[in-house]
Amino acid sequence: MAVQISPSILSADFARLADEAARVEGVADWLHVDVMDYHFVPNLTLGLPVVESLLKTTTTPVDCHLMIADPDRWAPGYAEAGAASVTIHAEAAKAAVRTLRAIRAAGARAGLALNPATAVEGYEDLLPEIDMLLVMTVEPGFGGQRFLDMVLPKVSRARGLIEKHGGEIWLQVDGGVSAETIERCAEAGADVFVAGNAVYGADDPAKAVRELRALAERTGSGPSV
Ligand code: DX5
Ligand code: ZN
Repeated sequence: MAVQISPSILSADFARLADEAARVEGVADWLHVDVMDYHFVPNLTLGLPVVESLLKTTTTPVDCHLMIADPDRWAPGYAEAGAASVTIHAEAAKAAVRTLRAIRAAGARAGLALNPATAVEGYEDLLPEIDMLLVMTVEPGFGGQRFLDMVLPKVSRARGLIEKHGGEIWLQVDGGVSAETIERCAEAGADVFVAGNAVYGADDPAKAVRELRALAERTGSGPSV
């Protein structure tokens, strides 16, 4: 498992997104873009036009996390626009298989996200349809929330299911990931780490990315499943 860091621009300055993306270019593996619609979550951020503009300004692959009520309708458009990874929420999708296949058909990696209260076991049959599983470590909607330790057993169980299916799928954690919590996530088996506040709340975002990566790499040899 290779450690990957995906800084979330939710904690960046939305009036200077191109500059904020540039601050982690060449250091971060991904740029995590949180799309929120005031329906699936009680917050509103940005949509496809902003993602299209961002894609023109950065060479870092864009990781779109769709916290929206109707991902079946909108997700393929993000893949068609050039996002390298598009993640939909299991709780919102009504035709997850069709939508995940449409994301892949448009050339992006397909991700499936699970809220803290959503069990991973119900989604085992979907694993062949996805490239990444996102286990939320906060309730989605806002940056800067406190990490939910209660989700860690699910991260471990998710790693176990992934290994059972061949180990190709990436396991992402998102929410409250910081220098204090990233080692616990890596120990539980996560390999892709989203960090908003821990990166864009830091004086030097690139340095913060390097530090988070070093902590995860020190710990993340994977669980013994
Ligand atoms: C929350 C978002 C996260 C958020 C994480 O719903 O999905 O990507 O930006 O922010 P931090 O790392 O500050 O918890
Ligand atoms: Zn996110």
